[in-house]
Amino acid sequence: MSDSPKREHWGSKIGFILAAAGSAVGLGNMWKFPYLAGENGGAAFVLVYLGCIIILGLPIMIAEIVIGRHTEKDPVGAFKIIGTGPWTLVGYLGVASGFFIMTYYSVVGGWTIGYLVKSVSGALCSISGSADAEQLFESFIGSPSEMVFYHFLFIGATVFIVILGVAKGIERFSMVLMPLLFILLIILIIRGLTLPGALDGLRFYLRPDFSKITTKVVIEALGQCFFSLSLGMGAMITYGSYLNKKDKILNSSLKIVGLDTLAAFLAGMAIFPAVFAVGMTPKMGPGLTFNILPVVFSRMPYGAVFAAMFFLLLFIAALTSSMSLVQVVVAYFTDEKGFSRTKSVLTAGGLIFLLGIPAALSFGVMKDVKIFLGNTYFDFMDMLTSIYMLPIGGFLIAICLGFKYGLHNTMHELDPDTNSFYLKEIWAFTIKYISPVILLAIVLYFGVYKMIVG
Ligand code: PFF
Repeated sequence: MSDSPKREHWGSKIGFILAAAGSAVGLGNMWKFPYLAGENGGAAFVLVYLGCIIILGLPIMIAEIVIGRHTEKDPVGAFKIIGTGPWTLVGYLGVASGFFIMTYYSVVGGWTIGYLVKSVSGALCSISGSADAEQLFESFIGSPSEMVFYHFLFIGATVFIVILGVAKGIERFSMVLMPLLFILLIILIIRGLTLPGALDGLRFYLRPDFSKITTKVVIEALGQCFFSLSLGMGAMITYGSYLNKKDKILNSSLKIVGLDTLAAFLAGMAIFPAVFAVGMTPKMGPGLTFNILPVVFSRMPYGAVFAAMFFLLLFIAALTSSMSLVQVVVAYFTDEKGFSRTKSVLTAGGLIFLLGIPAALSFGVMKDVKIFLGNTYFDFMDMLTSIYMLPIGGFLIAICLGFKYGLHNTMHELDPDTNSFYLKEIWAFTIKYISPVILLAIVLYFGVYKMIVG
């Protein structure tokens, strides 16, 4: 129990893997990866993405879990041990990232509940076309009462699970929700692929086109892999801190990364065949999910049932990710401030709810309130975290582990995995020299070049 001096542990190895994969599989997989792949070379992009996972995602995933298990602390506590002095700020940066991401992630999580309700009530499938779907979405996200209510419900659902504890809450729910997520994905894929005209969607998604692979596409894939794997803010440090000493980190990391990539890949297989079968063209992000897919479902036999399945899938993906975001903040309160778990979860949940209100209102009453470079509060929080805070956090994690603390001090964490000298050496070299360079390139590309050039 985290309320007692002895640290709580995951109940099983598979429980940890599913919880960590639950953190990774989120909205990023469902509405960004498929579109990036479709637009940027299909199967060729998928190959590039796999390369990004191997050179960036996997090494940092291993590093975060190693730091977590080695220190058995939240990110701030972990950096007090491996960094000391000003390096502790890296831990605070992580906790702040979790907090800030949650303020807008919870709002979108709320949208998924709202659309689940609309699917079940039949409101979603009675729309007549895309203009109607857009209008439904605009009025939904523009309504302050609905937005705040659903944001509250979503954060409430997260708090309900996290308050039960790491093993009894997060792990137990992940063990049910993650298999359910994959089952829903498979049902939706079968439905999509059996619609007439579905092959055009597969062609859009997967036709290999290596000429589309440019430096820009590679950097986008690197950025996407980092966000998608929940790296750079200590979510995996926190989850790793509850890992049993005998569990194998390399092996678990491969499974987490594999499940995340599989979910992203399958999301495209579920979405595009259906979109093309009803003669629509895909978009990226909320537009695809909330404007286009309702039209697709409304034109499909038993569409309401599949719409409900889809929004349930999205809700599960968002919920298991938000559990990890909240747990980072909760671990900080329990480990550093000595709060009880209940007090930590209620404090974190309450603060996130309050700070999320401006994000919930960003499409309605606060849509004209711009805080930075013409961004609404919602867009600002998204940009600040995914473009700056996570890659900078990842960069500092790699530098601190590689040069300040020294990888040799943590190598024994990898011991049960492999005694292969070469694997460890490759990992160490990557963390010290390759990961920092790539992460810096991501910050410079998204945070400087793209900001200026557009
Ligand atoms: N990986 C999540 C997604 O793909 O939507 C987002 C995320 C969750 C990022 C947790 C960071 C994190 F710590």
